[in-house]
Amino acid sequence: MKRKYIIYLALSVSFILSISFSFYYYTQALKYGQQIDGGKDNQSAIPAYHFALIGEEMDHDYWRLVGEGGKDTEEKYDVFVEYTGPRRSNPEEQLELLDIAIKSKVDGIIVQALNDNFLPMINKAVNEGIPVITIDTDAPDSRRSTYIGTDNYEAGRLAGKTLVEDTNGEATVGIVTGSFDNAHHQLRVQGFREMVKQEEGIKIVAIEESNITRVTAEEKTHQMLKEFPEIDALYGTSALDGVGMAQAMESLHLKNDEMYLIAFDILPENVELMEQGIIDVLIEQKPYEMGYHSIELMLDLMKDKPVKDTYYTDVNVVRVQDLIKKRDGL
Ligand code: BGC
Repeated sequence: MKRKYIIYLALSVSFILSISFSFYYYTQALKYGQQIDGGKDNQSAIPAYHFALIGEEMDHDYWRLVGEGGKDTEEKYDVFVEYTGPRRSNPEEQLELLDIAIKSKVDGIIVQALNDNFLPMINKAVNEGIPVITIDTDAPDSRRSTYIGTDNYEAGRLAGKTLVEDTNGEATVGIVTGSFDNAHHQLRVQGFREMVKQEEGIKIVAIEESNITRVTAEEKTHQMLKEFPEIDALYGTSALDGVGMAQAMESLHLKNDEMYLIAFDILPENVELMEQGIIDVLIEQKPYEMGYHSIELMLDLMKDKPVKDTYYTDVNVVRVQDLIKKRDGL
């Protein structure tokens, strides 16, 4: 009798256990199925489009914002954005990444076109059926579909106009530019020169390149200020030139009111220097928006929607008062 009871008990326990296991695995299988079929509004787990977004330098606050803008579109659209770039600015490596994206047959490529060497590679992508959008720096003579970013010539003019107004048309200027070879920096210098050339009281006495690093910007500014001690205004065209210039001023014990400093980009270090009264004006670009909208434009291209030749993102003159207003939510 006791043996029979034990057998019944064992049978009932294994029955209940097998039912529970079956139910558990059934619900797990359902969940897995949902992951495969659904996600964002019934989209597939493998995104519909794979785009490559290739910037100038991964380890850089400005490009991090471009990348974030691009990646954030993944939350809204059925895309995978592969954000990539050389660790340190290196046009050859950037071109290799472009070539890899072509060989990987991505659906679309968004790339900063630093100089004329990018043209053949952009055209190669388009000839192979991969649409290309340029970002931050344009290659208008290439077969790219559209450009999104700053109007770099106009941004240079805006910097020149601001300097003329702020110095009452009297200044001896030294320029530090990211690179002599890069289209956007050339345009930022050309636009600036164009604006100040009508002013008799403004002289540009030196121009050097920083290779977009704060260390070289500091070295070059230091040399420049030694050679031309009459310089009383500095213009920096790439995001870290302002920081390098400020460091050179510090090492030469120059006071803030002895030097007018105008530079590019709202990055934390630049903002801090502006709050300390060292940087007078920052030309604000919109790197996050560039990244985000470049993906939306690429999606338009995927759906054969018409796009314009260029999409210029906003550029603003920012002074310390603007930072305070922004902080106070005014
Ligand atoms: C430019 C970027 C550049 C960055 C470098 C920005 O002002 O728009 O192209 O990579 O400066 O510091």
